[in-house]
Amino acid sequence: MAPEQAAESPLTEASDWYSVGVMLYESLTGALPFSGTAFEVLRHKQLEDPVPPRTLVPDVPEDLSALCLDLLHRRPARRPSGAEVLRRLRSLDAAPADVVHPPPLPPPPSAAPFVGRAEELARLREAYAVLRSGRAITVSVHGGSGMGKTALVRRFLDELRRESPAPVILSGRCYERESVPYKAFDSVVDALSQYLRRLPPSVVQGLLPHDVLALVRLFPVLRQVQGVTRARRTVLDIPDSQERRRRAFAALRELLVRLADRAPVVIVMDDLQWGDADSSALLEDLMKPPDSPALLLIGCYRTEEATTSPLLALLLPLRESPPAAALEKMDLAVGELALDDARALASALLGREPGTEARAEAIARESQGNPFLVDALSR
Ligand SMILES: Nc1ncnc2c1ncn2[C@@H]1O[C@H](COP(=O)(O)OP(=O)(O)OP(=O)(O)O)[C@@H](O)[C@H]1O
Ligand SMILES: [Mg+2]
Repeated sequence: MAPEQAAESPLTEASDWYSVGVMLYESLTGALPFSGTAFEVLRHKQLEDPVPPRTLVPDVPEDLSALCLDLLHRRPARRPSGAEVLRRLRSLDAAPADVVHPPPLPPPPSAAPFVGRAEELARLREAYAVLRSGRAITVSVHGGSGMGKTALVRRFLDELRRESPAPVILSGRCYERESVPYKAFDSVVDALSQYLRRLPPSVVQGLLPHDVLALVRLFPVLRQVQGVTRARRTVLDIPDSQERRRRAFAALRELLVRLADRAPVVIVMDDLQWGDADSSALLEDLMKPPDSPALLLIGCYRTEEATTSPLLALLLPLRESPPAAALEKMDLAVGELALDDARALASALLGREPGTEARAEAIARESQGNPFLVDALSR
């Protein structure tokens, strides 16, 4: 499963190339790119790059090892396209390495159902209703580590995908061990770029902001959108970096205003605790009233990191001061699961073995309603 699949982002051709990367990795090394429980594997995929195949099997040609790692890139937009894969395969002239036969795969763990959170989901639906009435709204989803923030928002997005008209969902997250500029936006703009690439070029032309090239400078992935590099809408020789930045910010805002005119737009930024100060400035600018783009912007973060995170330390105090105070907001704390829900989750994870009921009860109590712990104790 590609990392974006676990993050409920749309699946694209790049997700299939990820699977090719996994098969290639396994063929070259005899091992999967990540090991551990299903949950640990999902986590590693989101946070880390796999060990290069060549490190495990020194005979693997360097180019092939690099291609394999590129196919397994955490960002779909950074994976090579089919044409690029073919080109790189053709240019490989090294002799094939000895392939170690992989061990059989372990059986997949039992799938866990989503439990509880009726109130939280109802509040997210309220926020969506605000968006549907044409107003911008931001929702802060916060709670302790592993309390179920991501799972809750994912569940809500699943519901939204069945809505008509279909909302545009741009979902991204900050990565702990990554240092790209505008971290909170980086993967959201990846999702935006993928969305735009699926639209007819004539529609894209109508959405592109005047200063699109200033925006491309901040987020080069947008170069992949048809027509962007041909846009001759702006002068790019702006020596003043502050001015360039101001224009890029305005361009993103303009693009999102136009997008929101076409369809309801929902942006999710997960793991904001790992965000940077630049993202805080861009967020503030993007949502500044009046005339903010009509977005439902959902930001998730760990409550315990509210003061230590560079992004949150800047952003959270701004919420109550003008002009951000004028923006509609919702605070959504994600607390412990109810005992019944924790027990139901543990039972589902444990399966139908004899003695499950008593174990599920013990796990539900021991975990104190933390779903991450329920999951970890049940496997
Ligand atoms: N309501 C739920 N029903 C079933 N499983 C859940 C629920 N909430 C969370 N989980 C499971 O618990 C684990 C932790 O949840 P999740 O990753 O959403 O927590 P989080 O608050 O986002 O954690 P972090 O602070 O690391 O971002 C995941 O395996 C998730 O699938
Ligand atoms: Mg999370």
